[in-house]
Amino acid sequence: MIFPNGTTEHPINKSGKKKLLVSVWDFKPVHPQSERSYYLCNDHPAKMRPCLARAILQIYGESPVLDPMAGIGTTLIEAMLLGMDAVGVEFEKKFVDQANKNIEHVRKLFPNKNLGNAICIKGDARDLSCLNNQRVNSVIFSPPYFNSMRSQVSSEKEAMKKYLNSIKQAKRVGGKPISKALARSNLGYGTSKDNIGNITKFGSILFSPPYFDALSINKGGGSKSSILYEESTQELQMKRSGLFAVKKNLPAPYSSKNGNIGNISEFGSIIFNTPLREANRSYRIAKKDYEEKFGKDENLKDICFGRTYLGEMFKVYSECYRVLKPNKFMVVVVKDIRRKGLTIPLGADTIKLCQLVGFEVFDIVVNKMYFPSFWQLTHAQKTQAKGIPMTLRTHEYVLVFKKPSR
Ligand SMILES: C[S@@+](CC[C@H](N)C(=O)[O-])C[C@H]1O[C@@H](n2cnc3c(N)ncnc32)[C@H](O)[C@@H]1O
Repeated sequence: MIFPNGTTEHPINKSGKKKLLVSVWDFKPVHPQSERSYYLCNDHPAKMRPCLARAILQIYGESPVLDPMAGIGTTLIEAMLLGMDAVGVEFEKKFVDQANKNIEHVRKLFPNKNLGNAICIKGDARDLSCLNNQRVNSVIFSPPYFNSMRSQVSSEKEAMKKYLNSIKQAKRVGGKPISKALARSNLGYGTSKDNIGNITKFGSILFSPPYFDALSINKGGGSKSSILYEESTQELQMKRSGLFAVKKNLPAPYSSKNGNIGNISEFGSIIFNTPLREANRSYRIAKKDYEEKFGKDENLKDICFGRTYLGEMFKVYSECYRVLKPNKFMVVVVKDIRRKGLTIPLGADTIKLCQLVGFEVFDIVVNKMYFPSFWQLTHAQKTQAKGIPMTLRTHEYVLVFKKPSR
């Protein structure tokens, strides 16, 4: 097994001869430009670090690889360089073009290397029929961030205006003007409302965790309750999503008292919804879509669909599940986000979404981040100066899912 640098560094390894894959990854900070020296185009606000993509591919990747939200093609390039075939799907034409230029560039740069084939297609990750029924052996990607339009400018001209204004302001009140690159980073993914990163409603997943069979595990496990739990999970996964109320008469292992939470005998319910209960057009369309895909569910009437970030990402993960071969990995790189002074736990929500779709959680890795954006840094400095203990986010998650064998 290959252990890429940065995935094995830990004091416990120092004395040991064998390398050990650890759950906190730490790739040395390298200047973003030198790290991407073999990329021709880099005009994207949320690129993955090439070393991270490479490590994920080396550990979990298997050709052919799919990146359903490919951006400017970091996963595709790194896969090619490792001799794997890769296909990317990306919503924005401007990124598709850059990804394909990057692919061509790498081909020219390394004519004698045993490169894999790669291509980026313009498409929508919510409908991967563009892959023509081809199944893949790994899915690796980082999704767009929620509501990325909020601080965006809609054109190059506006970005330059922002840049010039900051020079004027610096002259007037002092301080440093923002750089051109920083002003351009406000261009975001694009202005299309269909880009999932631009959806302004987040949505919510209410998840009441399943019964935990702690007592019987203490006694040796394998009790009737754990079997019932297994069955419930299967039943839940067969239904795939929606509102569940899978009732099982689980035995009460802690005591017979009603107040003991461990004795609650309903398996739980998962409600996948948006904050708004509205019978509007988008709700009806989403409901119809859902019924076509997963069949009619009598609980469905209680679910509110609308266009939310989580709702649309649910469709993306469902499609990834469909095109991935059983027993293979899907790896999602995601970080928690801050909105209105609070944290949106996107990592945890992504895990729940993927479980709803049917994936199993294989592993959770934390990757150290070294390059906060100017805005994140300023925000953390300002907030902490006011005495508010909100941390500067310096980690992201590498969530490793497995499609079960059946
Ligand atoms: C975090 S970025 C991926 C960056 C990429 N890993 C790279 O290094 O270049 C997420 C991408 O998802 C794209 N995206 C948003 N909605 C999409 C959709 N419905 N289908 C496909 N791609 C979409 C965005 O345009 C954005 O480029």
